[in-house]
Amino acid sequence: MSIPVFDSRAQIASLWSRLRQAIDEVMRSGHFVNGPNVRAFEEEVAAYLGLKYAVGVNSGTDALVIALRSLGVGPGDEVITTPWTFFATAEAVSLVGATPVFVDIDPATYTLDPGLVERAVGARTRAILPVHLYGHSADLGPLRDIADRNNLVLVEDVAQAFGGRYRGGLLGTVGDVGAFSFYPTKILGGFGDGGLVATNDARVAETARMLCSHGAKDPYLNETIGYNSRLDEIQAAILRVKLERVESWVEARRSVARRYAELLGGTDGIVLPYEAEFARHVYHQYTIRILGGRRDYVRNTLAQAGIETRVYYPVPLHHLPPYRNLGYRLLEAERAAGEVLSLPMWPELGPEHQARVAEVLNKAVGRSS
Ligand SMILES: Cc1ncc(COP(=O)(O)O)c(C=O)c1O
Repeated sequence: MSIPVFDSRAQIASLWSRLRQAIDEVMRSGHFVNGPNVRAFEEEVAAYLGLKYAVGVNSGTDALVIALRSLGVGPGDEVITTPWTFFATAEAVSLVGATPVFVDIDPATYTLDPGLVERAVGARTRAILPVHLYGHSADLGPLRDIADRNNLVLVEDVAQAFGGRYRGGLLGTVGDVGAFSFYPTKILGGFGDGGLVATNDARVAETARMLCSHGAKDPYLNETIGYNSRLDEIQAAILRVKLERVESWVEARRSVARRYAELLGGTDGIVLPYEAEFARHVYHQYTIRILGGRRDYVRNTLAQAGIETRVYYPVPLHHLPPYRNLGYRLLEAERAAGEVLSLPMWPELGPEHQARVAEVLNKAVGRSS
């Protein structure tokens, strides 16, 4: 039995005829950019989030760049963020001309440690950029307080946590802006790249919309240097169909996570994902820790049994070439890099596959200790 780390085929099969119809309608309309599906999706996703404005863009990376620029973050500014994330988070900060200031993570949730954020605020700090990693919320309450007390903006990187919650509220709605990705493996994924800037601030939404259309509110009357970064009609049509199901997929992911916890709980040397009392974890990844320096051995054993896993992430951002000259030592992120392992996870993952993962994993951890 070979088990991939992610598989979208069951999800697509369950919606096949509706997706086909949605794509066919776009083809028949001949309208591929700035069309009715994008506007409808923006309204529907704003309603789902309970926010006033949603602006579709080309990717989650662009959502972060456009969010930061719409909030006035730019050259000379510092943005406090996490080293334990996909590269795009810090890359977006650098792309707007600002400097990322890396602060270590809470090892239980893998998200920014608010106590350390407070101490990192300085004269040039303009923004805090937490990431809801693996589907688990950052501790947004204290981060919002620090932002408010210091006159900073708060941008949530929600790329991995669509549908996740903080104290009951949907992620992406506590910050000044939520930046989302619709990359195909995400909780709400398209058939290509896509992203979203979501906010309650009319001015920010207007600026975001202008920036993603070459800095023009009216065609050919360009006011600033922007981007060509639009969500396209086919992606929007697909995302509209999928948005209706997203809550059921989140619940299914949570069931898969519960089953893993039953199968793997009590094995010495494995640390299971933690769900803080403030969070609804949506398990974009089911990421465990393998202690005792045995992660790579365990990963290889799983691979030999046909079970695919991933290491998110092998190197924390502050040790990658673009940032390593900044000289950070961030011990929790560095420790995580040697211990984490993301197991197969998707909403339709069946119990027999999970039992097989657990059998091989438990044996590998026992054998190598
Ligand atoms: C945490 C995080 N931020 C940003 C991004 C960038 O999103 P995209 O790939 O849509 O540009 C990703 C993902 O892929 C991500 O995981």
